[in-house]
Amino acid sequence: QELQLKLEMLEKGGFDHFMLKEIYEQPRSIKDCMRGRIYPEEGKVQLGGIKEFAEKLKNIDRIIIVACGTSWHAGLVGEYLIEEYARIPVEVEYASEFRYRNPIITEKDVVIAISQSGETADTMAAIEMAKERGATIFGICNVAGASIPRLTHAGVYTHAGPEIGVASTKAFTAQVTVLTLMAFYMAQQKGTITTSKLIELLTELDNIPDKIQIALESNDLIKEVAEKIKDSTNCLFLGRGSGFPVALEGALKLKEISYIHAEGYPAAEMKHGPIALIDEEMPVVFIATQNSSYEKVISNIQEVKARKGKVIAIVTQGDTEVKKMADYCIEIPDANEAFLPLIATIPLQLLSYHIAVMRGCNVDQPRNLAKSVTVE
Ligand code: G6P
Repeated sequence: QELQLKLEMLEKGGFDHFMLKEIYEQPRSIKDCMRGRIYPEEGKVQLGGIKEFAEKLKNIDRIIIVACGTSWHAGLVGEYLIEEYARIPVEVEYASEFRYRNPIITEKDVVIAISQSGETADTMAAIEMAKERGATIFGICNVAGASIPRLTHAGVYTHAGPEIGVASTKAFTAQVTVLTLMAFYMAQQKGTITTSKLIELLTELDNIPDKIQIALESNDLIKEVAEKIKDSTNCLFLGRGSGFPVALEGALKLKEISYIHAEGYPAAEMKHGPIALIDEEMPVVFIATQNSSYEKVISNIQEVKARKGKVIAIVTQGDTEVKKMADYCIEIPDANEAFLPLIATIPLQLLSYHIAVMRGCNVDQPRNLAKSVTVE
């Protein structure tokens, strides 16, 4: 038994849980995901897996992203990036809803299916339906040779390495990285971005792993925050723009592994419902970094404080404004808004992790959840 324990420790690379190991692997996994695909000095993105379709990408009218769970959240980040840079309209659909509707799909559409495992039944069924209707299907998968990569016409692997923890962490940031690369690739094909802009963006993207490393260094502080809110029964996560899917993912992580009821909302929607829940018992986690929605988020924080909610804010390093209002601030390095989800997700993963451990939950194998859902 002692040997068994030692083996397990080895597998976890000295970490207490696979989830923590995988959170800490992210600077590396994102580097692996970008390797051979970005050329910052030339301002060029190369995606071998979809290059056959490079011409087609110049003329597509619409992209439909299908996925489930965390992968669906990555899809929402993808929508933001593809619309911003490639100027192609994007719809993001839960695979399970999409397959049971009678969606309008044409031969001109590109469907992007996102799946860590490549085995999710609903996502597979959505692909099959879109394929029958003539769409071109791209996959974004982590597990090489899984069913979804075999069903799709083309695809880009995330190369995050095996993910053991049921709650997805490094696979999510790798999916977001691939979507970022796809957005830039499509922009490059369509001519909606200049080479000098791409040089600037890719140079920054190349440095994101280092910024994630810095974000990980807040671990001790995050543990202290976790201690303060671990006994809550509810928690709200709010963000705007690309911070909104980050809020959704933060809430999903917390509910999956700590069993605290959590909801993610666009911060502006707070006044249409969730505000009714706010009292001194309610922790509200804000994505309050310095980007285009900063001032708006500050006024949302004021609304929460006026109702005595406990505010935990993810802020840009050196922030002073939010610090005056929030109960706890967790700093992350400054970055272009396009890359915010990659960094802001990290402290939320750590926050859920520590809360779940403190509550004595089985972090790597939460109750009732499976790593891949191969039934509908
Ligand atoms: C399950 C897992 C989630 C995952 C979802 C989609 O619910 O517990 O972590 O996000 O399936 O899985 P996929 O493998 O398709 O990304």
